[in-house]
Amino acid sequence: MKELKIRNRVASIPIIQGGMGVGVSRSSLAGAVAKEGGIGVISSAQIGYDEPDFEGNEQACNLRAIDQHIARAKELAQGAGLVGVNIMTALKHYKEHVREAVKAKADLIICGAGLPAELPGIVREAAREFDCRDGELPALAPIVSSEKAARVICKLWEKKYDCQPDLIIVEGPKAGGHLGFSREQLETLTPQAYDEEIRRIVACARELGERRGAHIPVVAAGGIFDRADVEHAFSLGAEGVQVASRFVATDECDASEAFKQAYVWADEEDLTIIKSPVGMPGRAIRNRFIEQMEAGGGRIERCYRCLEHCDPKRAPYCITKALVNAVKGDLDHGLIFVGANVGRIREITSVHKIMRELAF
Ligand SMILES: Cc1cc2nc3c(=O)[nH]c(=O)nc-3n(C[C@H](O)[C@H](O)[C@H](O)COP(=O)(O)O)c2cc1C
Repeated sequence: MKELKIRNRVASIPIIQGGMGVGVSRSSLAGAVAKEGGIGVISSAQIGYDEPDFEGNEQACNLRAIDQHIARAKELAQGAGLVGVNIMTALKHYKEHVREAVKAKADLIICGAGLPAELPGIVREAAREFDCRDGELPALAPIVSSEKAARVICKLWEKKYDCQPDLIIVEGPKAGGHLGFSREQLETLTPQAYDEEIRRIVACARELGERRGAHIPVVAAGGIFDRADVEHAFSLGAEGVQVASRFVATDECDASEAFKQAYVWADEEDLTIIKSPVGMPGRAIRNRFIEQMEAGGGRIERCYRCLEHCDPKRAPYCITKALVNAVKGDLDHGLIFVGANVGRIREITSVHKIMRELAF
C-alpha cells in the first residue's frame, strides 16, 4: 500500500474515512483517523446541530461548528494524516460551507450528492477573500458513481476553471447514505459490472490527467469492510479506499452509543432503500420511523432550510429532524443511514484497530 499524494499533501495511509452526516463524523472520528495517518473527514451537514442556539440560528451554528471541528480534528491528529470536509452539493448553504472550509484551512474538500460544477470557482473566491497562499488551498475531490459523471465534471472544470479534480472518489452501490443509482440499478447491477465501471473511471482519470501532465488518483468507496476488499479495490486500479460504515462502530465515532449499537445489531435483512428528500435513494436500517413514513409520514412542523430542492409541503419527512434524532440516539424517530455491509459489523472497536486491519 503506497501513500496517497493529493495536490501538495500526502497521507501515509491511503484510507479516507467517508464523511457521515448528520453529526456522525465530526472532529472526534476524523481526528482519530488522521492521527493514524489516514484522511479523516468531517461532514458539514447540520454539523452544529447540538449548539445551544441551533434552533432558529442553524446557518451561523453550522459555520461556527465547521471551523471548530476542523481545528479540533487537526489538533487530535497531532500533525499526522489529513483532515477533510464532506460538503453535499445539495445543501442550500453549500457555497458558504465551502467558503468556511477554505477559511478553516481544511486539507481536502469532498463533494457528493450532485456534481460540484462550481467548486473550483467558490474555492478561488474564498482564497482571495481570506488571503490564502497557494499551498494552503484545499485539494478538491468530487464523488461520482459512473464514468459519465467523472468525464462530465473533469471537462466542466477544465473548460470553466482550467483545472481538474485532485482526486476522484467512486462511490458504488453498496455505500451508505445517499446513493447515485436508481432503485432499478441497485437491484440489477452486479459486483462484476461495477468493477468494470471502476476500471473505466480509473482509465478515464489517467487519460484526462495525462493530457495536462498530471495524475488524478481514484479512490473506491462502498461496502469496503476488510483487507481483502481493500486489495480488490487496488487490483482495479484504485489508489485508495473510502470507508464509512465500519468507522461508525468505533469508540471515537461522534454518534450516540445507541446509533453505534444499531450497527452492531443490524443484519443484511434489516436494510432497506428509502426515498430521501434530497431526491436520491438512500440505504438505511428499517425501523419504526421508516414504517411510519411508509404508512403516510408525519407532518413537517418546522423547516431547517437545509436542502436546496426540498419543499417541506411535499417532502415525506424532514431529513434534518430524522438524522438529528438518529445521531442523538432517538432511533424510533430517526433515520439510520448505513452501508450494505453492516451485517458484518459485530462489535465496537477502535479506529486504531480498523486502520491496522485495513492497511497493508
Ligand atoms: C451514516 C452515513 C452518513 C453518510 N453521510 C454522507 C454525507 O453526508 N455525504 C456524503 O457524501 N456521503 C455520506 N455517506 C457516504 C459515505 O461517506 C461513504 O462514501 C459510503 O458510506 C462508503 O460506503 P461504506 O459505508 O460501505 O464504507 C454517509 C454514509 C453513512 C453510512
